[in-house]
Amino acid sequence: MLKVHNLKKSFGGVKAVDIDEIFFEQNQLTSIIGPNGAGKTTFFDLISGFTEGDKGKVFLNDKNITNSQPYRIAREGMVRTFQLTKVFDRMTVVENMMFSGSDLKNDSLFSSFMQLPAQKKKENLLRKKAFDIMKDLNIDHMADSYARELSGGQKKLLELGRSIINEPSILLLDEPLAGVNPKLAEEILSIIQKLSDSGITILMVEHNIEAVMKISDRVVVLAEGAVIADGSPENVRKDDKVIEAYLGSGNE
Ligand SMILES: Nc1ncnc2c1ncn2[C@@H]1O[C@H](COP(=O)(O)OP(=O)(O)O)[C@@H](O)[C@H]1O
Ligand SMILES: [Mg+2]
Repeated sequence: MLKVHNLKKSFGGVKAVDIDEIFFEQNQLTSIIGPNGAGKTTFFDLISGFTEGDKGKVFLNDKNITNSQPYRIAREGMVRTFQLTKVFDRMTVVENMMFSGSDLKNDSLFSSFMQLPAQKKKENLLRKKAFDIMKDLNIDHMADSYARELSGGQKKLLELGRSIINEPSILLLDEPLAGVNPKLAEEILSIIQKLSDSGITILMVEHNIEAVMKISDRVVVLAEGAVIADGSPENVRKDDKVIEAYLGSGNE
């Protein structure tokens, strides 16, 4: 469903991403791992339209999305989260959710005065959807709190909620467990597993190897922008190149 061909991006002399060819299949949960600076975030930036590549093509369901705007790519069904969350601190949790779910990206949604009945109905449906998701994520009790009042982990949950409100077919998660306490990490992991079980294709960048090995169908290892290993969690764990480049560096 996602196809990447000859994708290159350098910053100055540094090859951040240098991928010949990679495919991602529908309904799989793939983790992308690798040392810091391996190009994982840049890879996400390139395929989700946040950075322009030097070279290469990206296809989503056979549609060429190379260098498309992020909102267009999101409309095609591919949505991402960020390593540093991008929730709006000065909106409440439910407003954050509804903003992401709204197709009117302006303030008309929140100024209820002049609303036509049809708009009002749409807003109510959206609010209900937002609450359903917040309940699943266990942040519904924070609905009317400002996002800035959330803990780091709760912000990760809110960002996850915002990313799924438009029912994406493919989700890119950049370090969804980073900086989250172990209990909440466990919770987030089981939510990701559920999303995967519900049929969403997931690409996840994550440093928590334990978590990666537990839930992934496939693990792709990047080093210096290139793929150095790609396979089942068991096979990748045993791979000498991976152990040398990554797992061996005091982690295991
Ligand atoms: N905007 C940028 N400007 C300059 N260099 C960058 C930029 N973004 C990333 N890089 C460099 O590209 C490489 C890959 O970075 P990144 O994709 O963030 O790695 P990862 O997410 O795997 O830690 C690193 O060497 C990083 O310093
Ligand atoms: Mg990164």
